[in-house]
Amino acid sequence: MAAGAGCRRRVFAGAGIRRLTPPVSDGTYTAAEVGEIRRAIAFLENRPAVERAAAETAVGEGRCPPPLAPLWGLSVENPALFERLCGDAKALAYSIFGFFPTIHGWVYGQETPPAVAWEGRTRGLVALLDNGEDGAAVKPKQSRREDEIAAIAGELAVGPGQRESLAGFLCEDLVRGRFFTELPVETVAEESWLEAGQGLGRMMAALHGRGICYNDATLSDPEGRSHLLADENGGMTLIDFGVSVLLDQHPRLEGEEVFNLLRTDPMFRVFRGMASSPEDIQGLVYDYGRRLAGMSREAILSRDLRFTEQGIGFVAQRMGERVGALVGTGFREGYG
Ligand SMILES: Nc1ncnc2c1ncn2[C@@H]1O[C@H](COP(=O)(O)OP(=O)(O)O)[C@@H](O)[C@H]1O
Ligand SMILES: [Mg+2]
Repeated sequence: MAAGAGCRRRVFAGAGIRRLTPPVSDGTYTAAEVGEIRRAIAFLENRPAVERAAAETAVGEGRCPPPLAPLWGLSVENPALFERLCGDAKALAYSIFGFFPTIHGWVYGQETPPAVAWEGRTRGLVALLDNGEDGAAVKPKQSRREDEIAAIAGELAVGPGQRESLAGFLCEDLVRGRFFTELPVETVAEESWLEAGQGLGRMMAALHGRGICYNDATLSDPEGRSHLLADENGGMTLIDFGVSVLLDQHPRLEGEEVFNLLRTDPMFRVFRGMASSPEDIQGLVYDYGRRLAGMSREAILSRDLRFTEQGIGFVAQRMGERVGALVGTGFREGYG
């Protein structure tokens, strides 16, 4: 299987400068209104807790339709616009996601709007939009540098290609594939399991070559959910860089990065059990940060190899020892 096969859309114009599409009018909303709604979405990232609470109360009292809760601030800034959103069946069906750059045209500019499915466990609501030939996934950013990491992974064709988005969110190619763990064991040829392992090994080596620690389960978590999606043609894509850490500044790491490396450390559960206050957790992060600063980059990256070996163990349990062994052998070969 070729790692990251398939067509990847380029979203960057020039040296890392994101091309910004000006808002367009669709007849329902003027360009200025689309701009205002997009600004409201972009500011969600830093929305104060009191505004969140006000939106929740408004939903609870039936004054705000649940899909429009994120835009509740507009009810004060531009009540007439908010009222129109409340009467717009598409805004109720697609929530904020119909106003993202590429998606806006699909939702408001076509006769048949895209199919939408909802996902998301740890990061909040993830929208999966299928527009036939094309599709996109929109997800709230989970860490400060996730967009940067996802862009590198996209360039390497390890992760989905990244598209123009709004602040605080990633918008990326919709990967058409299933969890690696859902591949049919009966019909997949033996050498394909070996190739799949090699592909994942090469993908991991490519990420490590750019200083990215993936830092999450790849092949399978204990519940059999996989971050490796496999398509019908044998292409594989790694999704979800929410707790990944870019080690380009190592040994300097931000608190959030240290915490993301701490929380995926198998010892964290034990440590956390002993910590009784937020100050204790802060102390843990401080100590862990000092430990990480004293470790080599390779030693930090090597946790990905342990996580993958663990995933291979889950694969063996679910899909059989033979599959686990082939994927494991392939992975070690591919990583090199
Ligand atoms: N680019 C994508 N293409 C297709 N499906 C995706 C994509 N990104 C996420 N998903 C789906 O959404 C789920 C949640 O996304 P993920 O980024 O893993 O967020 P989290 O696990 O933090 O909630 C994934 O398990 C997958 O099923
Ligand atoms: Mg995930």
